[in-house]
Amino acid sequence: MTRYDDTYARWKQDPVGWWQAAAQAIAWDQPPARAFDPAMGVYGRWFPGGRLNTCFNAVDRHVTAGRGKQAAIIWDSPMTGQVETITYAQLLDRVARLAGALAARGVAKGDRVVIYMPMVPEAAIAMLACARLGAVHSVVFGGFAAAELAARIADAKPRAIVTASCGLEPGRIVKYKPLIDAAIALSPHKPSSVLVLQRPQSPCELITGRDEDLLAAEATAAPHPCVSVEATDPLYILYTSGTTGAPKGILRDTGGHAVALHNSMSMVYGVGPGDVFWAASDVGWVVGHSYIVYAPLLAGCTTVLFEGKPVGTPDAGTFWRVCAQHGVKVLFTAPTAIRAIKKEDPEGLHLKRHDLSKLEALFLAGERCDPDTITWSQRLLGKPVVDHWWQTETGWTITGNFRGLGLFPTKPGSGGKPAPGYDVVVLDEANQEVPRGQIGSLAIRLPLPPSCLPTLFNADDRFRDAYLSAHPGYYSTADAGMIDAEGYVSVMCRTDDIINVAGHRLSTGAMEEVLASHPDVAECAVVGVRDTLKGQVPLGLVVLKSGVARADAEIATDLVTMVRNRIGPVAAFKEARVVARLPKTRSGKILRATLRKIADGDDYVVPPTIDDPLILEEVTGVLRAAMR
Ligand code: COA
Ligand code: AMP
Repeated sequence: MTRYDDTYARWKQDPVGWWQAAAQAIAWDQPPARAFDPAMGVYGRWFPGGRLNTCFNAVDRHVTAGRGKQAAIIWDSPMTGQVETITYAQLLDRVARLAGALAARGVAKGDRVVIYMPMVPEAAIAMLACARLGAVHSVVFGGFAAAELAARIADAKPRAIVTASCGLEPGRIVKYKPLIDAAIALSPHKPSSVLVLQRPQSPCELITGRDEDLLAAEATAAPHPCVSVEATDPLYILYTSGTTGAPKGILRDTGGHAVALHNSMSMVYGVGPGDVFWAASDVGWVVGHSYIVYAPLLAGCTTVLFEGKPVGTPDAGTFWRVCAQHGVKVLFTAPTAIRAIKKEDPEGLHLKRHDLSKLEALFLAGERCDPDTITWSQRLLGKPVVDHWWQTETGWTITGNFRGLGLFPTKPGSGGKPAPGYDVVVLDEANQEVPRGQIGSLAIRLPLPPSCLPTLFNADDRFRDAYLSAHPGYYSTADAGMIDAEGYVSVMCRTDDIINVAGHRLSTGAMEEVLASHPDVAECAVVGVRDTLKGQVPLGLVVLKSGVARADAEIATDLVTMVRNRIGPVAAFKEARVVARLPKTRSGKILRATLRKIADGDDYVVPPTIDDPLILEEVTGVLRAAMR
């Protein structure tokens, strides 16, 4: 038995006792009465009766323990040429003051605060300041357009917004303030206060009575102490793409999150106090919430906050430069980032120029990782490369390989074995477990472990419908995959309309809503076409209304602009093709599942219910031509 097998078996034998032991590592204002109450909430709640403050655990506690001079955050920004180190003592001062500034503007426990920020330290400081007050942050990724931001403001109803004047993308400055103004105008709910970080690259006008300079507000505020909250109180809401319509507000509770994330740093990544950890992601995504901000700080590590891209800022050696310069012990990123580096520097010439002796492992997640990317990085780095499977909903890894328990051999193409905490099964439509090696729906037996969503923000019924109804007694992951004879889990594809573009989770349904609103479009389908760099990219197939005289290319340009303006550049929607008809069943349903398989390059069978096989052939030609 390996230590993994032994630990997993111990968890399975006594899940509640196992988590109770993990909870000892957290500083509680009042320890929980019990680890789990199955009668509370939708499927039970973790650590009821416990009281704590996440910011205290992530910041104050380390200063009290004498780590005040240790670097908490290293901000490395090839976009601006700046590198800045913030110690735990400095972080405490800034977070406490920003919390004071927010409190002075009426933000109190339970109030929501929307954070729309680029990758600057103030993004993490604002998140921690909310946590300090017991306020609930909702960070929105900077690549979303005003309408998406407005939908989140309307749902979260924030009292305040924290933002910056601009973000920096290679070759362009993204002015955030016009997006914020437009989003507030679109939303029926209006925040009373907007704090703006003025960046020298593009300062913005402030609206009198609503907008204020963030740094000035922070500098003049009195430090605010930590507010003790219930373990079951929300820490944050993170909106993620739902199948269609409004985004889903994933709710993260305070106690379970702190316990599971703290535990994951040693168990999954094998790091501890003083180690440098770098999650090369964005604070707008779950990986950024968990592994740029909360988990490394809860564990007393130094976290790297990187404003740049894996290539082009300035070259494909940036990641290795950052690892060497800051002594990164564990790097976590998306396979897309490694594919981008591999494409520009296949021989690893940049990598060889840097001293990577401190780097011990590379972790990958966010999308299915092709085996070639794993073996390429293993060969060049000469260190373990771990693929692990996660979702915004869980906040930490469902399956993986566990440095803290001793790594077991990896199998490229598999996301590893279930983390202690998760009972992962593969089910058929009748809710029966399928034999090992067969593909089915990946599901997790309830209850979910700490940190996983207890429900959706203000939407218990939607939570039940979306996640718990397909397989009673289980959480449906909406991923399909299999478990092999040795217990390795492979995640193959989504079972819904979500596509994964450069590690970003997007809904094709939401893009279809945009295309369908074009006056010349009769019907449409958006599919994720296989792409060697980004994994998938969206392609729009549209049928025009009869009598439309405009050129196809003109309409396609309109559609690309519309998706960029309504959803945002992150959708990476660059191509729409006009087709004569879409393949359908005889009852008139578009064959979306078949289209998805074709676009992914998978084998497919022509459904017996198809109306006209010739149409499918035509569209197959279009999809195959779009693959790269
Ligand atoms: N604010 C504003 N715009 C943003 C943005 C942000 N925070 N992030 C991305 N965008 C824009 C990009 O500039 C790009 O715009 P363009 O169409 O004008 O070129 C568009 O959104 C698409 O971005 P992306 O898909 O990220 O592609 P890219 O060409 O900028 O970069 C990679 C390609 C592979 C380098 C990049 O996707 C990457 O590093 N991915 C890593 C994925 C990741 O971190 N995932 C998080 C989960 S772990
Ligand atoms: P997100 O919520 O953005 O983290 O996206 C979650 C989805 O990304 C999952 O449901 C999977 O479809 C996909 N995903 C994440 N990590 C992996 C992985 N290691 N292997 C395969 N798919 C993954």
